[in-house]
Amino acid sequence: MNTSQKELIKATVPILRTNGNDLITYFYQRMLSNNPELKNIFNMANQASGKQQNALSGAVLAYAENIENPTVLINTLKSIGNKHVSLNIQPEQYDIVGNHLIGSIKEVLGDLATVELIEAWTCAYNELALIMISIEAEMYQKTINKKGGWKGWRSFKISKIVKESDEINSFYLKPEDNKEIADFYPGQYISVSAFIPELGHKQPRQYSLSSYSNSEYYRISVKKEISQNTTTDGIVSNALHNKKEGDIIEVSAPAGVFFADPKANNPLVLVSGGVGLTPMMSMVETNKNSLQKNRTVWIHSCRNENVHAFKDTIEELNNENEWLTSFVFYETLPESETNAIEGRIDLHQIKEEILIEDAKYYICGPAIFIKVQYQSLVALGVNRENILYEEFGPQLLSLN
Ligand SMILES: Cc1cc2nc3c(=O)[nH]c(=O)nc-3n(C[C@H](O)[C@H](O)[C@H](O)COP(=O)(O)OP(=O)(O)OC[C@H]3O[C@@H](n4cnc5c(N)ncnc54)[C@H](O)[C@@H]3O)c2cc1C
Ligand code: HEM
Repeated sequence: MNTSQKELIKATVPILRTNGNDLITYFYQRMLSNNPELKNIFNMANQASGKQQNALSGAVLAYAENIENPTVLINTLKSIGNKHVSLNIQPEQYDIVGNHLIGSIKEVLGDLATVELIEAWTCAYNELALIMISIEAEMYQKTINKKGGWKGWRSFKISKIVKESDEINSFYLKPEDNKEIADFYPGQYISVSAFIPELGHKQPRQYSLSSYSNSEYYRISVKKEISQNTTTDGIVSNALHNKKEGDIIEVSAPAGVFFADPKANNPLVLVSGGVGLTPMMSMVETNKNSLQKNRTVWIHSCRNENVHAFKDTIEELNNENEWLTSFVFYETLPESETNAIEGRIDLHQIKEEILIEDAKYYICGPAIFIKVQYQSLVALGVNRENILYEEFGPQLLSLN
């Protein structure tokens, strides 16, 4: 890209700030109606809620703002790359996205879309696409090279279903080919793809691996998403809750940047809300099953005891292991005796327990929950670099 093209890209930043979302909404409508096969890989609920449009317009804006030095975006690009690889995105699909993006810029900007501007954006997109294709090629290669690794979708049998709470079931998944499975870092996720008859196509979703990495199975723990209006119940979580032991689902290899390196010996402080406990469960199980027992403090909150998945397991681990301290907050306390604290998590209340030298802090839960806990940690003096968080949807928060 030459200097005048970079200037043209920078000149579009104000338009992207104000109208980027409209442009990307137009782009997705254009792309998904012309290439309906892509509905099999895009999360259609994220399209309906506008979350994916926000995620992509945010990425395009960040790219335009940093056009002089896009390498500052490397961590973001790696996170997006992980999601892409988990959805088996292919290099040739970058041409489809590029054509629709440039076509959308032309159509939305109308007369403002000069030949030079379109050339500049075509060049900028192609450069970004090349960076992403190469990041993703490296990730695919790493996954394939791993013992038990694979690329794309692989059939897994649901070998066991365990009820963990009123609304969360664990699914134990074993490969249909009975061959090895790849190991993973605690905190990583897999994608699951299920055919949805009502939609007439497949739908993928991500699920954090909730057990420690072992050679036998992957375990995911899925909340059945029920809405007041039954027509909008969660599509894939309900499809999974309707599955039986022995059923087959398509699964992609473990991915994700939100993980605790099992070889690192720093203490862990885990803060989870609701079903956001799944990656933490994997981190704690990993600790339990390794020789190195990192000091771990786990603060979890949920509505009440009935929706508290893994409650007994965590209590047992807490009672039997010096390295673990667990705090539980319930919005409503049970009638029976409990160690839980009433109300929402207040990290200030337990600051002596969580302010630990060299600790890494992991937060997972709804976006607003993550924001509040993150701000509390920063207010308590925790260095932002030591705080990691994961949203169970497109990564829209930008707190670091
Ligand atoms: C990295 C990552 C890890 C994850 N890990 C887990 C995990 O361990 N466990 C887990 O349970 N989930 C996890 N998730 C979330 C999971 O991927 C799904 O988003 C979740 O299961 C909901 O999917 P669904 O298809 O059931 O709901 P969707 O159909 O995607 O709907 C999402 C929500 O929107 C509501 N909704 C849908 N359509 C409408 C509408 N038109 N109007 C109003 N409301 C509507 C639904 O009721 C539902 O509550 C994770 C997500 C990510 C990104
Ligand atoms: C330079 C080009 C691209 C950019 C900047 C980009 C950006 C993004 C971003 C920001 C996300 C959200 C990630 C997250 O929050 O975890 C995402 C997700 C996704 N991307 Fe891309 N992407 C590009 C190309 C592609 C291509 C070529 C495809 C293939 C058709 C694709 C398919 C997807 C899918 C299916 C998702 C998940 C959507 C969802 O879960 O709702 N992307 N991308």
